[in-house]
Amino acid sequence: PRTILPPYRIKVVEPIPFLSAEERQRALAEAGYNPFNLRADQITIDLLSDSGTGATSAAQEAAAALGDESYAGARSWFRFRDEVVDLTGYPHILPVHQGRAGERILFTSLLKPGQICISNTHFDTTHANVELAGAEPRDLPCPEAADLDSVEPFKGNIDLDALERTLTGPEGHRVGLVLMTITNNGLGAQPVSMANLEAVRELCRRHHVPFFLDAARFAENAWLVSQRESAYSDWTPRQIATRAFQLADGCLVSLKKDGLSAIGGFIGLRDDDLHAVCEANLIASEGFSTYGGLAGHDLERLAQGIREVVDPAYLRARAASTARLARLINDAGVATVQPAGIHGLYLNAARLLPHLSPRDFPGHSLGCQLYLDGGIRCAEVGSLYLGTVDDQHQLVTPAPFELVRLAIPRRVYTDTHLEYVAAVLADIAKDPERVRGYRIVSAPRLLRPFKVILEPV
Ligand code: F0G
Repeated sequence: PRTILPPYRIKVVEPIPFLSAEERQRALAEAGYNPFNLRADQITIDLLSDSGTGATSAAQEAAAALGDESYAGARSWFRFRDEVVDLTGYPHILPVHQGRAGERILFTSLLKPGQICISNTHFDTTHANVELAGAEPRDLPCPEAADLDSVEPFKGNIDLDALERTLTGPEGHRVGLVLMTITNNGLGAQPVSMANLEAVRELCRRHHVPFFLDAARFAENAWLVSQRESAYSDWTPRQIATRAFQLADGCLVSLKKDGLSAIGGFIGLRDDDLHAVCEANLIASEGFSTYGGLAGHDLERLAQGIREVVDPAYLRARAASTARLARLINDAGVATVQPAGIHGLYLNAARLLPHLSPRDFPGHSLGCQLYLDGGIRCAEVGSLYLGTVDDQHQLVTPAPFELVRLAIPRRVYTDTHLEYVAAVLADIAKDPERVRGYRIVSAPRLLRPFKVILEPV
């Protein structure tokens, strides 16, 4: 049969709220028109993030019941460590409570002030933690990524020519790290090819620069490689993921995504000296090196989650579900960044809402309309997030794109829930002119999207 079935059925469920249109209108106004200020019990379908929002399995919960909460040397730590070493091949594993804790520990240990960290695209906390370490984050995405409609298979790649130019140019000696984000969350959930990772490794080796992965979605990248890169079509997702880790000198992993758990992460390292510095930093700020801010039951869920996430039947079904949502949305006349990734779809709000200028924050406007019409929560990736504003909060430099990310939690929503999302969008697409723009009332200087207050224009 052509139907692609998820390899699980649902055993424990949680009710979702349904509010009236008036209640949603009031809730959004009280939230200062910022979805981050909404309460979860005001939301019908929550597509704000795929991070820590997945469903766990019966096997994970059974393992959690065996969690060993000893302060040091817990059984759960050894289960977790063995699983991660087996997946990554790194001799040193440091557990952290989530990805950004690993970022802070690695960057403050590895990067010197004034150095440059180069990436295909830094995720926003990664960007912030490079800066907090006194270094300069620099994104070198491949040129294909700029064309949102192009169906190139690996638009998450780094621009190898630009990387080589930087490494051989006058700033070459300042490059302290090359960090490849797989998949590229900042640029449309696009995957990175193994050929690109191999070339990055060669360049880094030649120029003696450490090469790390930010591998929050290591299994989803591996699945897309198995489908799109012919040299790997016979490899399992797990083999591809392991090969990617082997190419790098170390990694940062938020396990809130492909760890299929609410919390967790790790740093993987080869270098003994760097490990010693990071470990001291970890013990001082996160916890002893056998728990790193996690409970024993978390380590158990993670050890099991890492096994489950590379199941080809699971990855095939998840990729198919996102692709199906993309087709429904595209058929309704709403463009998404092509080709569809796995953990999220990025709606092209600028194209759907030509009556709004970047100053009206079209991505944010579309996100608000999805909540007002359907109780759907999502996040803007456009000028509200990436643009620069003056002291009166007027937009000065718009972002290159006005997008909205629909992030898809793992194993949480059925295709029926996603059909509902497409139907709400289809209704907006029939009469887009009724979507109003927004202006900023107040905003913090740092990390604007999380605390900004807006009002309709
Ligand atoms: N790196 C990437 C590529 C991420 O997507 C995230 C988080 C992090 C690092 C940080 O990890 O949240 O565990 O501290 N992304 C979430 C998102 C928040 O919604 O995309 P964390």
